[in-house]
Amino acid sequence: MAAFPLPPGSTLGVLGGGQLGRMLALAAARLGFDVAVLERDADSPAGRVAAHTIVGPYDDPKALEALAAVASVVTYEFENVPAKSVLTLQALGVEAAPGPEALSVAQDRVAEKQFLNATGAPTVAFASADSADEAMSQAAAMGAPLLIKTRRDGYDGKGQRWIEHAADAAAAFEALGGVPVILEAQANFVRELSIIAARGRDGATAIYPLSENHHEGGILRRTLAPAEVSTRTAEEAERIAVRVLEGLNYVGVIGIELFELKDGRLLVNEIAPRVHNTGHWTQDGCEVDQFEQHVRAVAGWPLGPTAPHARVEMLNLLGDEANQWAKLAHEPETRLHLYGKREAKPGRKMGHVNKVHPL
Ligand SMILES: Nc1ncnc2c1ncn2[C@@H]1O[C@H](COP(=O)(O)OP(=O)(O)O)[C@@H](O)[C@H]1O
Ligand SMILES: [Mg+2]
Repeated sequence: MAAFPLPPGSTLGVLGGGQLGRMLALAAARLGFDVAVLERDADSPAGRVAAHTIVGPYDDPKALEALAAVASVVTYEFENVPAKSVLTLQALGVEAAPGPEALSVAQDRVAEKQFLNATGAPTVAFASADSADEAMSQAAAMGAPLLIKTRRDGYDGKGQRWIEHAADAAAAFEALGGVPVILEAQANFVRELSIIAARGRDGATAIYPLSENHHEGGILRRTLAPAEVSTRTAEEAERIAVRVLEGLNYVGVIGIELFELKDGRLLVNEIAPRVHNTGHWTQDGCEVDQFEQHVRAVAGWPLGPTAPHARVEMLNLLGDEANQWAKLAHEPETRLHLYGKREAKPGRKMGHVNKVHPL
């Protein structure tokens, strides 16, 4: 096992080669680390800025062995890392952060809500169903409208169906592929907020100001930060963040998505055990951004300051919106972040901009 803090010159392993891996690699390089990316595709956004790319599936023992041979610690840019891969890495003497508890909770929407409620973080009412019949009886007991989501593998609003009548639950269950699902009561939120937080190897925590998030079709479009919230809301969100981090014995950055209700109460929607799209504003709005913070945490360094020095509007560039780069580059308040993806498909996250304004 590596000794912490990891000195500059050490190699950090990252599972996943997308934009989050790319921005982690850039932040790691700034602190003098090398990055080794494990990714199925030889030509990936993260691989193109990393010292090493190991090509293979995330659960390939040979690829994990090659990663363990160069990396002192391994982290990931997505939550659906097979638990077995983490165990394989641990058996090879490489620590993975965040740890297996955080992954198993975040990979299953039912386990996630059970953990949140047990730790004192409220969520919408929910039930699980493994069959069409069970979906029907749970829906009848809860009452519509309901949002039915696959328990595993959903992202960007994929794997979800609203039903307006409890009688439609069986059809929704089948339409989602006949896999285990969660049924969620509708959150009548006035706003979606999120909080990005970090916990170091020494148990210290660092928390960013809340951001306000706007989604379209399940995909994040726009983040405004720091969000205008009451002191009570800010304190409640911080209390939730600390409970979640401590409950998972967490190391690294986490994203916690929240629903703000009319009466000011907060419900947790979901947690992401990684750097998060709603934290991209910190790159141009905070002293130490979420990517450097994650590298610091997993490398056993002290966490950095999270204070904001600007007000930021973050806009995702989806599909061919990234073709606007030349125009955007003219705007003095706009910081452009492009992911180097070769092909712009509709809805694909190609980059983002941070529009920076004085606090
Ligand atoms: N129970 C709910 N009630 C109302 N809206 C919801 C609920 N769950 C999710 N949503 C909406 O759908 C979006 C995506 O759902 P989420 O559970 O965060 O899935 P994903 O993993 O795809 O991000 C949320 O940001 C929110 O706008
Ligand atoms: Mg979400």
